[in-house]
Amino acid sequence: MSLTFRKLHPVFVGEASPIELRAVHDEETLAKIRAGMDEFAVLVFRNQSVADAEQLAFAQRLDGQLHQGTGSRVITKNRLGNEALADISNLGQDGEIMQADDRRRQYGLGNRLWHTDASFRDPAGRYSMLHAKVVPPVSADTEFADMRAAYDSLPAETKALIEGLRTHHSIAHSRQILGFEFSQHEQEQLKGAIHPLVRTIPRSGRRSLYLASHQSHIVDWPIPEGRLLLRDLTEHATQRENVYCHEWRVGDLVIWDNRATMHRARPFDDSKYRRELRRVTTLDIPEPALVAAAGS
Ligand code: OGA
Ligand code: MN
Repeated sequence: MSLTFRKLHPVFVGEASPIELRAVHDEETLAKIRAGMDEFAVLVFRNQSVADAEQLAFAQRLDGQLHQGTGSRVITKNRLGNEALADISNLGQDGEIMQADDRRRQYGLGNRLWHTDASFRDPAGRYSMLHAKVVPPVSADTEFADMRAAYDSLPAETKALIEGLRTHHSIAHSRQILGFEFSQHEQEQLKGAIHPLVRTIPRSGRRSLYLASHQSHIVDWPIPEGRLLLRDLTEHATQRENVYCHEWRVGDLVIWDNRATMHRARPFDDSKYRRELRRVTTLDIPEPALVAAAGS
């Protein structure tokens, strides 16, 4: 198949030539998409008509196992009835726009902070695939930042300083930044996870900064020093030249590599306009092909 990608931003993001993802089953095309992910870190597929079951099945063909309820499971029941299908919408259980003080809305506002999906879990998220069903007539964009470019452009001293550091990520931390409160019982289910601050992406071999607003501290560092360094790194990583802004069209399916990017939702009048997207995220566990290659 003649699948090609056109670069949408100077450092990352590719837009795919016309293709119907729900019909992609052949290994050759799946391998082309994975290679595209290695190169561009974010891929945009236009005009995708995919039912929920097709989105779930495609994600598994492309990258294996799926995350179940990346975070919101602790505070609410999934409106779509399947924990693997994240409800990225401003709609409540009744399908109507949520009230401003709705707890699920308050929780979802955390997506407006720079983050990478499921970094507070182990395994974390590898690929996220977000499909747009309903988009507002006003801007309600998602921004992406290239964390490989961010790493590459760090001064040598900073690279040396952060080599080998580990950080603790917790969804409770990013929500508390916005004043969201968890009950004692919820808090107990949200212990978080520890991951390296610098990652090497298998296959491409590129290094990336693994940052997220979920990060509460650097392991073995005093809390203030760790948070200050993480803030500086985030400021560096999200400079405008590293950022692509995706303006959603209905039918867009965007896949991003959570190891190589951060993203955030941009604000819009969510009391007035419906916005409905669905996300599936794969587990960042070693890919069978890479395990086999390492062992041979
Ligand atoms: C997500 C997310 C941002 C948005 O789906 O993981 O962060 O713009 N979405 O809805
Ligand atoms: Mn997200």
